[in-house]
Amino acid sequence: MNFKKELEQNELFEKVASAAKKLNLETFVVGGFVRDLVLGRPSKDLDFTCVGSGIALAEEVVRQFDYHVPLSVFKNFGTAMLKVGESELEFVGARKESYRSESRKPIVEDGSLLEDLERRDFTINSMAISLNSENYGELLDPFNGMGDLQKKIIKTPLNPEVTFSDDPLRMMRAVRFASQLEFDIDPDTFFALAQYAHRLRIVSAERIIVELNKIILTKKPSYGFKLLFAGKLLHEFFPEMVELQGVDSVDDKSHKDNFYHTLQVLDNVSQVTDNLWLRWAAIMHDIAKPATKRFNAKVGWTFHGHEDKGARMTPAIFKRLKLPMDERMRYVQKLVRLHLRPIPLVKDEVTDSALRRLLFDAGDDIDDLMKLCRADITSKNDKKVKRFLENFDKVEQKLREVEEKDHVRNFQPPISGEEIMEALGLEPSKIVGEIKEEIKEAILEGKIQNNPEEARRLMLQLAKAKGLVNS
Ligand code: CTP
Repeated sequence: MNFKKELEQNELFEKVASAAKKLNLETFVVGGFVRDLVLGRPSKDLDFTCVGSGIALAEEVVRQFDYHVPLSVFKNFGTAMLKVGESELEFVGARKESYRSESRKPIVEDGSLLEDLERRDFTINSMAISLNSENYGELLDPFNGMGDLQKKIIKTPLNPEVTFSDDPLRMMRAVRFASQLEFDIDPDTFFALAQYAHRLRIVSAERIIVELNKIILTKKPSYGFKLLFAGKLLHEFFPEMVELQGVDSVDDKSHKDNFYHTLQVLDNVSQVTDNLWLRWAAIMHDIAKPATKRFNAKVGWTFHGHEDKGARMTPAIFKRLKLPMDERMRYVQKLVRLHLRPIPLVKDEVTDSALRRLLFDAGDDIDDLMKLCRADITSKNDKKVKRFLENFDKVEQKLREVEEKDHVRNFQPPISGEEIMEALGLEPSKIVGEIKEEIKEAILEGKIQNNPEEARRLMLQLAKAKGLVNS
């Protein structure tokens, strides 16, 4: 690859190079940008390392832009950042100690470029391209990152024990890069990762979840989860998922391995959505199976109520993992709770009221629920899979027909609490809620149509029956 030519594509590099020349600072573009350039992946973030003050260099770059770009300086960390259009440029002096852009620890000692590169996480992230006039565009690759990019290998530049103890989050990053790039982890690096997995305990949940979510958003997340499991990292922060693994047998009857089933569901759903929370719903859908597992001599293994218990387990797991506790959690919880509901609806004799109830309970998330249910079909028998999917086609058709007729997907009460109070001369009280609830039930049951006239008529009947008005 002709790096000089690549740099010429972007005038930013020329600006940084002339700033560096003016200050007589050896300067390089390093890390993720170099990796992504070789891989042909777009990258907006540019990291520059100079031997000297990164802040002084950034200030000079700003001058090169006639001060038209905003600069943020983080004195404690010796870094400076500036935004040029879509790109974020970070400047830092080469350091002797571990490089962590998100570290709160102030930097300690200046170092050479080689010292800086060797304290980075992986060989593929430890390459630099020179911006200095004597060798502009030359690749500096002391740990053969190019070779590892070609071999598709994630490997630490130093002894993995040293690299991982500098920052144990790097064990998660190893899996994340392997999943994103579809690379293998070098055996020695993986061996160390499995050995030091317990050190993840000193890493904050906030940092772990960033990497985990990136793994979940890859094309085939099962790969990342299998690595997390094999390396025992998953055991450190998500024991409930580890519990899913394993098969019990009694009297020759065994159940499926729910860990690998869950991963299959996650891969399936990932083929049809990039929605992180729908992917989370796939991860969580059977989470309560271990807790609800029973053996019954007649029917074999059962997991009664795992959907409700799973929904109840969701908030605590989200809280611990520092996932959001807002509508995104409630969405996952809802899909977990409802994930079995479409199954009985495949029967021919299904009633409209059962369909209406599901539409009412799922609301606008009905389509996502159906995606999850389809993904949940993981039989190895292709004929069976085809038949089940066709059954769900029919369910969706029935749901569409009922929705067109009854509009309960976005159910708004056809008569409000205020209207009930006004019509019946009531003060705010429990009885108003009861009447509203009974009207809703009557609509879902199909006893009345979903419109204000019928709702009013029923309201008056109920009021009479409750002795609220004279007949
Ligand atoms: N780095 C590191 N150890 C960490 C975090 C980062 O050594 N725990 C180094 C790597 O050299 C990395 C660079 O800092 O390339 C920038 O980090 P970051 O922006 O987190 O990662 P990128 O490699 O740019 O990749 P991505 O943008 O996909 O996160």
